[in-house]
Amino acid sequence: MSSSKFSKIAQIIEERIENGEYLLNSKLPTHRVLADELNTTPVTIAKAYKLLSNKGKIESFVGRGSFVCGESNLNSAIKASEMEETFNFSILQPCLYKNVVPLQKAYQVASEKLTASLIGYTEHTGHENHREAGVAWAKYFGLTGGSVDNTLLTNGAQHALSLLIHALTKPGDTIAVEEKTYPGTLAIASLSGRKVVKVSMDEHGVSPEALELVIDEWKPKLVVIVPSHQNPTGITMPEVRRRKVAEVIKRKDIWLVEDDIYCFLDERPIPAISNFIPEKAFHISALSKALSPAMRCGYIKAPESHVELLNAHIRANIWLSPPINYIAATYLIESGEAFKIAEQQRKTAFERQTIARKILPTIQCRSTGYHIWLPLPLHWTSERFVAEAKNRHVIISSGSYFDATGHESRHVRLSLMSISSEAQLEEGLRILQNLLESKITTFPF
Ligand SMILES: Cc1ncc(COP(=O)(O)O)c(C=O)c1O
Repeated sequence: MSSSKFSKIAQIIEERIENGEYLLNSKLPTHRVLADELNTTPVTIAKAYKLLSNKGKIESFVGRGSFVCGESNLNSAIKASEMEETFNFSILQPCLYKNVVPLQKAYQVASEKLTASLIGYTEHTGHENHREAGVAWAKYFGLTGGSVDNTLLTNGAQHALSLLIHALTKPGDTIAVEEKTYPGTLAIASLSGRKVVKVSMDEHGVSPEALELVIDEWKPKLVVIVPSHQNPTGITMPEVRRRKVAEVIKRKDIWLVEDDIYCFLDERPIPAISNFIPEKAFHISALSKALSPAMRCGYIKAPESHVELLNAHIRANIWLSPPINYIAATYLIESGEAFKIAEQQRKTAFERQTIARKILPTIQCRSTGYHIWLPLPLHWTSERFVAEAKNRHVIISSGSYFDATGHESRHVRLSLMSISSEAQLEEGLRILQNLLESKITTFPF
């Protein structure tokens, strides 16, 4: 059989996905049923499915069949922790079992603090002491200039990103993102009709020269930058680079959205980029990565000029972020417990990075944070590596999920924190190392 036969069949299936005949997330026909319909053999269908799986269009599961992938890579990049897979390296979250007891206590304290006014509607800006705690949290890790008047409460950093993109841009506008970026930002852009342009990075993060060129050519309204432990590359921008990027933004007609969700993982506080251009910068921090993503507590520090506009968006969309969670968050911050937990998670990440570097000697990034951006040998594409890892019950994220144009990638991202025991972490990493060394050619292309 010529290779073009299964390619043509893959094309037919792709067209059926595009025209809605095969719905997103739906199960595809079995090999035999489709072979009968298309007058070919089940082997040819299997090859076509494999081709589509390598392209990230469909996903196949042993014993369950093949499914059309959902539209957003966000779903693929991050697999919920309830999934039955044994080694889940796909979620960037703290080692949760370490945080259960302090969070139980915080919510117990919160429940004792509940009063009639705290359980009722309140101003959409939330309670002042809850904003004050947000100011203290971000200040501790390097943000200056925060106050109860310029700090807003959000439902985590994802909500903050969505809120800022909607408030600062219109459909059809362009936003600039790092060359490799957090898929949550790409998902907001794609669902809300914003175009995305990529800014090149080097080992210190976004290149100021590249940013300037992109601004001149594409006129993006805002640029989203993750300055510390960038997702996915793990890069932390040194202060000198932050200053240079700030200089470019200051001169140009563009807003900065600084997503500083991993700032607590820096060994010492590094000044936020926003410190150098407070009038042009929106700074996001959140408790999701240090304490718990389930709290949905995030903070935006905004230029005074935009506080009212953002409040109007919060009021219109969610009225206010849940005060009950903010009581617990504020207790944890005011008592100092939140900073202790953050420090413990930072140390755990550091220890796990050391374990990973012993087992996977090809790690190049210098990250000390939650994840690793792992380069693959030439004989692997990221999609195939992810698929083969999945066959071995190891869930990792393909590098292409982090690319605005979905380009094939030679990297995968591994989160080191979502597996609870170190022994299991090591076992999963060894499976990946064996796979990296193997010369599997399960398919002839
Ligand atoms: C860079 C970045 N920003 C935002 C988020 C979303 O955080 P949250 O859970 O606070 O919405 C994530 C989560 O992985 C992230 O990596």
